[in-house]
Amino acid sequence: MTNALDGRVVVLAGGLSSERDVSIRSGRRVAEALRQEGINVDVLDVDAALMASLAADRPSCVVPLLHGAPGEDGAVRGVLDVLGLPYVGSLPVACRSSYDKPVASAAVAAAGLHVPASVVLAATTFRELGAAAVLEAVEASLGLPLVVKPTRGGSSLGVSVVRTSAELPAAMMAAFAYGDIAVVERFVAGTEVAVGVLEQDGVPVALPVVEIVPDGGFYDYGARYTAGATEFFVPARLPQDVLDAAAAAALTAHRALGLRHWSRADLIVDADGTPWFLEANVAPGMTETSTYPQAVAAAGLELGKVVAALVDDAVS
Ligand SMILES: Nc1ncnc2c1ncn2[C@@H]1O[C@H](COP(=O)(O)OP(=O)(O)O)[C@@H](O)[C@H]1O
Ligand SMILES: [Mg+2]
Repeated sequence: MTNALDGRVVVLAGGLSSERDVSIRSGRRVAEALRQEGINVDVLDVDAALMASLAADRPSCVVPLLHGAPGEDGAVRGVLDVLGLPYVGSLPVACRSSYDKPVASAAVAAAGLHVPASVVLAATTFRELGAAAVLEAVEASLGLPLVVKPTRGGSSLGVSVVRTSAELPAAMMAAFAYGDIAVVERFVAGTEVAVGVLEQDGVPVALPVVEIVPDGGFYDYGARYTAGATEFFVPARLPQDVLDAAAAAALTAHRALGLRHWSRADLIVDADGTPWFLEANVAPGMTETSTYPQAVAAAGLELGKVVAALVDDAVS
C-alpha cells in the first residue's frame, strides 16, 4: 500500500499555452492511470479558480502536466512551493533553465554533450541590425541546412527546417510568432530518438530509447498527435553501444540540468553514432502517441505505478 492511496492527488492540465490541448490529453491519461491504482485524483486547469481550490481543499500532492510556459518554465511550480504543496517533477529553477533551449544547451555542453552550433537572435536585434545582413552572416557562419525554433516552446510549434537561403526569413518569422527570441542551429541529420529518464528510489535511470520516424519526414505537431502519422520503434533500431550512448546522454542532461523525478531528452544520433542534444523536457508528453509512456511500457513498468511512486517520493 502506497502513501499515494491515502490522500488526494491533483493533476494540473490545460493552461493557456499553445500546447493546451496536448496538456489536457496528457493529464487525462495520467489521471486515468493513477485511478487504476486506486488513487483519488482530480484534474484541475490553471485558471482563476485554481488558487482558491488548492487552498480550500489541499491535495496531498500535485502532478503538473502543463506543457509550455508557465508549466514548464517553473512559474506554476513556484506558486506550489509558496503554497507548501508537494509536486512531482523538477523544481522551478531547473525548469527555467531547461525550458530555455540555449541555456539548457550551454549547460549540457559544459557537461560534455554534443550540441548543434547555434546563434540566438532576439526579434529586436534582428530589426535593429537589419534582417538581411544578420541572416547573411548567420548563414555564412553556420551553413545550410539549418533549424530555426523559438527558444522557449514545445511540440515543434514555430520550428522550421531551412534548406535554402530563401526559406530563412519566413522561418525566423514563424519562430518569432511564438516568442521574442529564436535560435538558429545546424541541422543534424540522423536518427531522431527520445530518451525518458525516470528516478527510481532517487536514482535516475534511462528508459528504453524510442526511435521516431515521422511519415512526412519531420516530427511536427501533426506527426506527434495524429495516431499513425509517426512510426515508433522501442528500443530504437540502433547498435547496443549507440543505445547506451543515447541513454548516457539523457542521464547526463538530467543531472547537468538538476532535474528531478522524470524528464525526457530529445536527441538526434548521427551516422557516426554520436548523440546530439536538442532539448530536455521537464513535463514530457503523456498522450496516447507520446514517447514517454511508450518507453515506460517497454521497460515493463506501468504508468500508474510509476507516477504513484513519484507522488510518494514528492510527499516524503
Ligand atoms: N538541430 C536540429 N537538427 C535536426 N532536426 C532538429 C533540430 N532541432 C530540432 N529538430 C527537429 O525539430 C523537432 C522539435 O525540436 P525540439 O528542439 O525538440 O523542440 P520542441 O520539441 O520543444 O518543439 C525535433 O523533434 C526534431 O525533429
Ligand atoms: Mg522536443
